[in-house]
Amino acid sequence: MILELEAIAAGYGAKTVVSDLTFRVAAGEIVALLGHNGAGKTTTLKTAMGLITPRAGMVRLAGAPLTRAPVAERVARGLRLLPEGRGIFPDLTVAENIDVVAARLAGRGAMFAPADLYRLLPVLEERRGTRAGSMSGGQQQMLAFALAILGTPRCLLLDEPSIGLAPNLVERLFAEIRNVCRAHGVAAVLVEQNVAAAMALADRVVIMNGGRVVFDGTPQAARESNLWEHF
Ligand SMILES: Nc1ncnc2c1ncn2[C@@H]1O[C@H](COP(=O)(O)OP(=O)(O)O)[C@@H](O)[C@H]1O
Ligand SMILES: [Mg+2]
Repeated sequence: MILELEAIAAGYGAKTVVSDLTFRVAAGEIVALLGHNGAGKTTTLKTAMGLITPRAGMVRLAGAPLTRAPVAERVARGLRLLPEGRGIFPDLTVAENIDVVAARLAGRGAMFAPADLYRLLPVLEERRGTRAGSMSGGQQQMLAFALAILGTPRCLLLDEPSIGLAPNLVERLFAEIRNVCRAHGVAAVLVEQNVAAAMALADRVVIMNGGRVVFDGTPQAARESNLWEHF
């Protein structure tokens, strides 16, 4: 297992929004994490990343207990978050965005150095000198994805990467996610409102409702379950 969340309880102030949450992600596996708005998906990803300290439960990365480890340690071990609403520097150019992150993450022997990103995502090569904030939503999201995979990722936490993208761009982005995960053995937890696309890509589907896991199984079983009708 690359990522294990075990009996997690987490929230904000006095409010608990995730309770007794358990799921595991195997190396190279793509898990779609689905559920209504407010179900606790973003809170779950933030807890895995160490941005929120859980009130109870355990987080393990490749078997190592990291429940209270700093974000930087998780990043160094290959956990990466593509945050809701993109994680780019809008006032820097594409190349500057990549170089800033690469300076910390893409040392010798890295799985993805800047040159690999430009090869993988030609749109970034074409826009190297463009201010990131002036690009289209789709191009910005490709850049956010590129920043998330720089270095040597083991498990990507992708929080609604397709939001605001035209259908053909969603297809492009998902093809890149598939390629990175399949060709390089990188795992991903994919939070999506685009349920059909996420289910088509995923090996497994976890559905949350009211801060709890209410389904954990194959996309096929998810489609066949009655639960499905509610999402
Ligand atoms: N920073 C915050 N402070 C207080 N409540 C929050 C905060 N972020 C999220 N919440 C609440 O936690 C619940 C779960 O939110 P979230 O994890 O963002 O759900 P999802 O990503 O599934 O839409 C919601 O009721 C939301 O209003
Ligand atoms: Mg969210």
